[in-house]
Amino acid sequence: MKNYKTFLKGFVLIVFCFAFLSLNVNGQPKPWNVPDEYKAMNNQVVKGDASIKAGMALYIKNCASCHGKTGLGDGVKARMLKDFPGDFSGAFYQNQTDGEHFYKTKFGRGEMPKYEGKMTDEDIWNMVNYMRTFKK
Ligand code: HEC
Repeated sequence: MKNYKTFLKGFVLIVFCFAFLSLNVNGQPKPWNVPDEYKAMNNQVVKGDASIKAGMALYIKNCASCHGKTGLGDGVKARMLKDFPGDFSGAFYQNQTDGEHFYKTKFGRGEMPKYEGKMTDEDIWNMVNYMRTFKK
């Protein structure tokens, strides 16, 4: 009986440890491995009104369902996702380079769809520019 209790305590502790480890400040399950050449990549589209407007239309159509209209990660589909899509208004997102945003949008992972082949690089840069406007 004593052994059983010890086992149970250990088990509960392990479960808590896993729950704690899977919690993450930014809500991401694990860090992304963005290759250096993408991290350092120059944005190929100037952040002007035309780009931001084009990016907004694409974002609302393709991304807002999960990421939310203002990028808070609160789109209608978000609650059905296993992983939190991220808060685009916060420092964790905004401190990344344009190239990191580009890479993640282009190649995706898990529940984040991959837009390679579905959108041109120019479209992706337009959205990257638009998503900068979510900064608090
Ligand atoms: C089906 C829901 C869904 C759609 C649609 C979607 N995303 Fe995502 N997105 C996610 C999820 C979930 C994550 C977090 C994935 C992870 O960390 O493994 C994510 C992560 C991201 C990230 C990385 C965020 C960070 O903090 O590093 C970017 C950038 C991104 N998405 C951009 C977009 C863009 C741009 C579109 C539209 C073209 C889009 N997403 C459409 C679910 C979605």
